[in-house]
Amino acid sequence: MKSNIVYLWICAFAVIHGHQETLPQPSISDKLPSLIKMNNDFAFQLYKKLVETPDYQFKNIFFSPFSVSMALSELSLGAGGETEKQLLSGIGHNSSVFSIEEMHQMFHSLLEEMEQSTGVDIDIGSALYVSDKIKPLPEFLKKMKEFYYSDGFTVDFGAKETLDKINTYVKEKTHGKIDQAVDHLESNTFMFLLTYIYFQGKWDTSFDPSKTHESRFNVDAETTVPIQMMHQYASHKVYYDAELTSKVLCLDYNDSFSMFLVVPHNDIFVEPKTIKDLEMAISRQHIEKWRTAARKRLVSFYVPKLSLKTSYPLNDILKGLGMADMFTEKANFTGISEEMIFISKAVHKATLDMDEKGTTAAAVTRVSSGFSYNPMSSLRFDSPFMIFIIDQKNGNILFFGKVVNPVEKL
Ligand SMILES: *[C@@H]1O[C@H](CO)[C@@H](O)[C@H](O)[C@H]1NC(C)=O
Ligand SMILES: *[C@@H]1O[C@H](CO)[C@@H](O)[C@H](O)[C@H]1NC(C)=O
Ligand SMILES: *[C@@H]1O[C@H](CO)[C@@H](O)[C@H](O)[C@H]1NC(C)=O
Repeated sequence: MKSNIVYLWICAFAVIHGHQETLPQPSISDKLPSLIKMNNDFAFQLYKKLVETPDYQFKNIFFSPFSVSMALSELSLGAGGETEKQLLSGIGHNSSVFSIEEMHQMFHSLLEEMEQSTGVDIDIGSALYVSDKIKPLPEFLKKMKEFYYSDGFTVDFGAKETLDKINTYVKEKTHGKIDQAVDHLESNTFMFLLTYIYFQGKWDTSFDPSKTHESRFNVDAETTVPIQMMHQYASHKVYYDAELTSKVLCLDYNDSFSMFLVVPHNDIFVEPKTIKDLEMAISRQHIEKWRTAARKRLVSFYVPKLSLKTSYPLNDILKGLGMADMFTEKANFTGISEEMIFISKAVHKATLDMDEKGTTAAAVTRVSSGFSYNPMSSLRFDSPFMIFIIDQKNGNILFFGKVVNPVEKL
């Protein structure tokens, strides 16, 4: 049997500083909230599968569920039969809520909207590399371009230049932040689908670098690691989630995205909770609740400077989510090519840098001593916590993560 292989790579990248542009928001379909729900439910499923994997159980997690959903939806354009069914139900598509056509249109309008987000640099898209030995069907290429702004290239996977070409493309698209997306390609590769997301936002309220100090992060009961801790005393949205026994801090990027930081609340007044308890209990509905219930108040908080780089082989994860056929000879990609092709590898890469930079300096406020007991008056992210970056308008989860050790090297 000829092994015609499709590679699926998904890269995600975030840096928390940058410059801003202001453009009008386009109008979007009424059904968009259902797509966001679908994506966010998928985000939690993917997260739960990741943390069930022994390799990642006690590791930092950081990924862009949106970019994974989008890549899979894009792939479904070329899938048929059982493979298509698995892809669609895997990402949570329900035909009584919206049609497949509507799904692609909504991904398209989300992409468009993101491109025009104010206050952040965001570059999201995909590229398809097809072997010059097979002929992808023009209809598939046309749809990829139409819905997902995908670039298509015909390449010789046996040639050394192809690897350089792909890496240069990704490097350019991610402003140099992912410079080695692929380290090797098998010469029998027939197709390679690459999805990338580059995100660079600036805090609405920056941190004063002179307040950043050496501190320690409690990885677990026995281990602490040295970190650079940033500090701010300013007005931000906070929420105490009694159901999760967790504290939630919402830090805005200029007008378009927000980061939610969530840490289990542990002190002598409550039953101790761990990050494990939090991650088992948390769902899309909690994030929806925080979006409306969080209120602004003056808060003194500490967050570590972070630089995370993650890379996930997704084959087993996606198989675990019911999308197994595309990785085997049972794959049906008759919408892409008449030849028999399947995916050999699906990889997701994501990067997060979080530092002091923002659009406006934090108001200099004197912190009075002696807070009365209030779990929200002082917030320290000095033990494992969760991170979400969502778009403010729709609540789409762009990035999803857990920090268990800020200095962990992959
Ligand atoms: C593959 O998908 C196409 C389109 O849905 C379908 O016509 C064909 O029967 C499928 N092939 C197999 C082997 O399932
Ligand atoms: C699809 O959506 C309908 C209407 O909301 C719902 O009744 C049904 O249970 C959903 N199906 C699945 C498989 O989730
Ligand atoms: C966001 O950036 C724009 C353009 O620089 C600026 O005019 C606006 O005040 C900023 N918004 C916030 C909330 O800082």
